Amino acid sequence: MSRTAKRLIRPLNNLRSGAAYPASRKQVREDVLNEEEQLYLIGKARTMPGTANELQSASNRYHQNGAAEKVLGAVYTPPRVAAALTRWAVRSASDKVLDPSSGEGVFMSAARTRLADLGARRPQCVGVDVHAQTAAATGAVCEDFFSWVRSAPKFDVVVGNPPFIRSHLFPEGSRRLAFGEMVRMGLKPSRLMSTWAPFLAVCCSVLVPTGRLAMVIPEELLHVGYAQELREFLVRRFRRVIVCLPSHEIFQEVQQAVVLLLCDNENAAESGILSIEYPALEEGDFDDLTPAEPWAWNPKWTHLFLTAQERRLVNQWWPRLDWRPFRAYGRVEVGVVTGDNDFFVLDEDQAGAFGEKHLMPIVGGAKDLRGITFGANDFRRVLSEKRPAFLLRLDAPVDQLPKPIRAYLELGEQRNVHIRYKCRIRDPWYAVPSAWESDALLLRQSGEMPRLVHLAKKCTATDTVHRVTWDRPSLGKRHSVSFMNTWTLMASELTGRSYGGGVLELMPSEANRLPLPEPSAALDDIFEAVDERVRSRNFYDALALVDEVVMPGWMSRGARQSAENILAKLIKRRKTRYHANH
Ligand SMILES: C[S@@+](CC[C@H](N)C(=O)[O-])C[C@H]1O[C@@H](n2cnc3c(N)ncnc32)[C@H](O)[C@@H]1O
Repeated sequence: MSRTAKRLIRPLNNLRSGAAYPASRKQVREDVLNEEEQLYLIGKARTMPGTANELQSASNRYHQNGAAEKVLGAVYTPPRVAAALTRWAVRSASDKVLDPSSGEGVFMSAARTRLADLGARRPQCVGVDVHAQTAAATGAVCEDFFSWVRSAPKFDVVVGNPPFIRSHLFPEGSRRLAFGEMVRMGLKPSRLMSTWAPFLAVCCSVLVPTGRLAMVIPEELLHVGYAQELREFLVRRFRRVIVCLPSHEIFQEVQQAVVLLLCDNENAAESGILSIEYPALEEGDFDDLTPAEPWAWNPKWTHLFLTAQERRLVNQWWPRLDWRPFRAYGRVEVGVVTGDNDFFVLDEDQAGAFGEKHLMPIVGGAKDLRGITFGANDFRRVLSEKRPAFLLRLDAPVDQLPKPIRAYLELGEQRNVHIRYKCRIRDPWYAVPSAWESDALLLRQSGEMPRLVHLAKKCTATDTVHRVTWDRPSLGKRHSVSFMNTWTLMASELTGRSYGGGVLELMPSEANRLPLPEPSAALDDIFEAVDERVRSRNFYDALALVDEVVMPGWMSRGARQSAENILAKLIKRRKTRYHANH
């Protein structure tokens, strides 16, 4: 074997034997490759110059695009993280430890070291992995965890990093077993679940009552809807649920933001949800735990994106602000689902032949909403730019429709519009339902900030934008201005969800919960100035104007500045953080 090959294979052998953790970051990268990958690279190294670069780029490719990685959900844990989690969870030489998806054995190796340090002569440590070669190489049981668990003994500790396999790739047989276990536990599994969620839930069931769990879990745990019940379950099952958000440097190669979750039933002073900074976790300094109770208005745990100090500030101010939720003033609903926007939403030329009676003005997307109001001039601009602006609104039987429309419907049938899902489930297929004009529109997705747009020209909207109906439409303009304040936007960041590219999406149920300031008369005076600033993309100037009006007198300049910093931080986080690519 060449020297390069020996150098590449050494870390893997160290890991198998449970020897010392790699010291350098480069060595860590080598460790995270599986055996086949290493052998492939060794082959490459023999034939290609620039081995280090090749290793590096292949390692990156593996982590970003690897098909095997996606299917097995293999996002490997840096040994220092596995060591820190295991040190916390394993507390006695007699602890029985389980890693339910042990991969290359980084947690098993850490557990053996920890148990040996605690004086164990025969460390009791079980790994399970469905991947035959990996299991064989590490001495793990080779079986689907959800099958194995049905006759598994109880453990004192579960450590690990469950596979992050998206719901559409979750093997059906495995899913059936997993869901069966969850149901037995009294939980309601969802087909939207990625594999990590049932792994986490079922791992709790193999623990003795005093057992501890320390795992690497996708950050989705904090906010996805399907994990809501699991979040509540964790708080019921454990006295302490400790969450740590490691920085990207810790999980460099991974395209998936993760949290470190540590749960136990320790009779400690602090209980409930607690947070810890990564350096303290790595140093084992658990005096640094900070309470992190979620806010009543936010069922997600996104408050953990804020530091303990930031959460304290919000906890102080929020109750004093006492703003009412959006739904106290009106309601947010989805836009029109046409079934085929290209067919049903027309530009001025296309609509020309059909007659006003069969057309309704419609906003086709956020691109047409430039300020905090949409009026006749804005509509004219959409028309002049030849963008879609009219919804074809038909409900009469076909023989009662004018000839040009009948011809257009025939064209639609030739193009199979009538058999598209939303069209074929309604009768007649061309009658678009729920096409009503709203008082305002709320951006469903926004790159910079969400925005509430007053409709000076009445129209409806496609489902790329939400429609808003006010209880008192005469206050609509004020609401549109008042929405543009630091607190409402901060709440939007915390309750919405973000996607690749850093776009923030707000669903109607989330928007309806957002706190809104009182629609005071002083807002009328700044309506135009705010609109102008938003149109010229000076969002933060607009925000400053609104804050000046809606923030109460008791809130100091310093407190307001802190709130602005928190909002800026949340927006930056959304735009720059890693997003799952599988
Ligand atoms: C994210 S890796 C974790 C590896 C290791 N625990 C670590 O942290 O580095 C996930 C592992 O889960 C394994 N796996 C996927 N589905 C599984 C299943 N149903 N049962 C057991 N293991 C599974 C994969 O083979 C892969 O090794």
